[in-house]
Amino acid sequence: MRRIPWWRDAVVYEVYVRSFADSDGNGEGDLQGIRSRLGHLRDLGVDALWLTPFYPSPLADGGYDVADYRDVDPRFGTLHDFDALVSDAHDHGIRLIVDIVPNHSSDRHRWFREALAAPPGAPARSRYVFRPGKPGERSGEEGPPNDWPSAFGGPAWTRLDDGEWYLHLYAPEQPDFNWRDPEVRHEFEDVLRFWLDRGVDGFRIDVAAGLFKDESFHDLGGQNRRVLNGPMYSRPEVHEVYRKWRQILDEYDGERMAIGEVWTDGPEDLALYLRPDELHQVFQFDLQLAPWSATAFRDVIVAALKAVAPIGAAPTWVLSSHDSIRHVTRYEQPVSVPGIGLARARAALLMLLALPGSAYLYQGEELGLPEVTDLPGEARQDPIWKRTNGELAGRDGCRVPLPWSGSAEPFGFSPDRVRPWLPMPERWAPLTAEAQAADPSSMLTWYRDALGLRRRLRDDLPDDLEWLDSPDTTLFFSRGPLTCALNCGENPVRPPAGTPLLTSTPLYGDLLPGNAAAWLTGP
Ligand code: NOJ
Repeated sequence: MRRIPWWRDAVVYEVYVRSFADSDGNGEGDLQGIRSRLGHLRDLGVDALWLTPFYPSPLADGGYDVADYRDVDPRFGTLHDFDALVSDAHDHGIRLIVDIVPNHSSDRHRWFREALAAPPGAPARSRYVFRPGKPGERSGEEGPPNDWPSAFGGPAWTRLDDGEWYLHLYAPEQPDFNWRDPEVRHEFEDVLRFWLDRGVDGFRIDVAAGLFKDESFHDLGGQNRRVLNGPMYSRPEVHEVYRKWRQILDEYDGERMAIGEVWTDGPEDLALYLRPDELHQVFQFDLQLAPWSATAFRDVIVAALKAVAPIGAAPTWVLSSHDSIRHVTRYEQPVSVPGIGLARARAALLMLLALPGSAYLYQGEELGLPEVTDLPGEARQDPIWKRTNGELAGRDGCRVPLPWSGSAEPFGFSPDRVRPWLPMPERWAPLTAEAQAADPSSMLTWYRDALGLRRRLRDDLPDDLEWLDSPDTTLFFSRGPLTCALNCGENPVRPPAGTPLLTSTPLYGDLLPGNAAAWLTGP
């Protein structure tokens, strides 16, 4: 019997549904494709999957523009496929978390269409955020209600022909809901129950800090950037919503949970969401933002643990996601030495899995996939690329479909001769899951070994960690029987006493090489 709720120390694998596995040959991944690859995920040793949105959507933002919260987009399958996936995943001992997108809908959502068809001031508009424009100070010409920027570039407001403006913190195709309208709250409570009744184990909450905006809608005042504690995010009212959601989750058996995508200015603000009657988890993004530096990692870990300790919450670590540059590539900065990104990513996994709390992995990191930086402009689909006229590359480079097998595109992602929705580089042939499964020195084998060992050890690992003295450029810590040593420097160092259990690069005599990590046990 495990002693703690499953999610507190789970390894969760993010499935970017559109890019995981395509069963029907339309060039996009789907639910049946995930079902067909559950063996890969079981062998990898993950506890749960987080599925990115698969709901009916025009895909203006890869599905984070939801047109119907209670269905499956035909390109990804059917509700029947979903039920079959839940059931098969559970049979494989894998739990399922789905994404919920409460900050905004698609502009094709029934409610937004009704809002557009209704005149200014009509009740159908109160489910979204409509405001009159504001005359410009000098010109007198009407402009947006305030100066808030969209996270994807350009203003956060779009004007309708009837003169009203609507708010969208993201793309214009993603109008923000008005969470002060009780109908919006009730709708989402019902949506939660819809998926809980179908057997999901939890939710990943998109833009969880965004739901309420400061009612004064005051300008950011020249700070034309995202202000995390400003009028657009983390208003106090949001916590009431999550207290209610927690009650709903607790009504169901089986330890159902929720993890919030919350960006704040520091871990203390993050911890507010983790009070015992609110969310179970929030992502700790600071590790993902940290450079390859023992000091930077240690500072993030110390601050994160300090913030959650008083409320008894567990931290949740992440190195890559569908929104960030893959960490193999990130760790090649600032100087690229061949192979260094991979070596560091192997080492980082040992740090991640040795920390208290849970770890979220992103699909493809088990294959050591790098960011695809040379996608042609015409293939790119991210609204960030489109709205900045190509000034920012956007996130397509980490969303390229997974290479499963074979030696040419589509690498088993789609049936032969089908072109995947993003082109796959020919240089990925040695990185397929098939090629790596047969190679004892591959990244895939490394991930399986590390996850397997953690699974065997984890019931003996205490909730906290003890820092050990260590040379500059390294960090050493212990959790009960497990000691983790990470060397971010270039020169070999003497690891702490103990018998090596697993090392990311073979020891150099009895020294830990640079850009490497080791797990050790016992003195
Ligand atoms: C965060 C999601 O992870 C990202 O992909 C999306 O673009 C924004 N939220 C808006 O929904």
